[in-house]
Amino acid sequence: MNGRGKFVVIDGGDGTGKSSAVLHLVQELKGMPVLFTREPGGTVFAEQIRDLLLQDRKGEHVFAETELMLFSAARMQHMGNTVIPTLKEGRHVISDRFSLSTIAYQLYGNGRGDLVKFFEMLDTVAVSGCVPDLYIVLDVDTDTALLRRQKAGGLTRFDKKAADFHRAVRAGFLEHLNRYPYGVVVDASKSEVEVQQEVLKIVKNFLKI
Ligand SMILES: Nc1ncnc2c1ncn2[C@@H]1O[C@H](COP(=O)(O)OP(=O)(O)O)[C@@H](O)[C@H]1O
Ligand SMILES: [Mg+2]
Repeated sequence: MNGRGKFVVIDGGDGTGKSSAVLHLVQELKGMPVLFTREPGGTVFAEQIRDLLLQDRKGEHVFAETELMLFSAARMQHMGNTVIPTLKEGRHVISDRFSLSTIAYQLYGNGRGDLVKFFEMLDTVAVSGCVPDLYIVLDVDTDTALLRRQKAGGLTRFDKKAADFHRAVRAGFLEHLNRYPYGVVVDASKSEVEVQQEVLKIVKNFLKI
């Protein structure tokens, strides 16, 4: 392939079907020059930061600012060591979650819209001048998403937060998608197969593969 690869993100709240859509892309794009990755994570050290973020805090209050900096730190590693080098090789990158998750959870979910300027400062450093070419947000009402997560079992600390938190998270994704040059909202209330197929179609059209 000639030139730089494209950076594609699949994002949205818990239970919107991101992992399911990404798994389908993995199967359908087998043999294509595409690297699949996720946030927080995507490098050894960034995955270690992920583990830290998901661990039980044993009663200690963790500040929204602390989480924001840790997510940004993981993103810095991910961009510098995985995403940018891969794009430079001419391969595409598809990431499960990215910066909008940080806005949605750490700012909106925590009721800390006042941190948006701080987020922008950190994120500008973390993305290292590379923004997603295609940003897909899967969107579904929060009750449906919760039912799906309950059915799937194994709720994480983020999943267990109250309904108001998840409603704020949803608003965060939708209100900030216009930060990116090409953002698409996918109606994730449809069946799992329909959502998978729609995401595949959007990605294939965009990457021309
Ligand atoms: N469109 C859908 N309709 C019904 N169930 C779905 C749909 N998309 C995903 N699921 C199911 O919901 C659960 C959460 O999906 P998942 O892909 O892990 O979401 P996410 O990665 O966004 O949290 C899984 O059990 C999955 O099979
Ligand atoms: Mg997932």
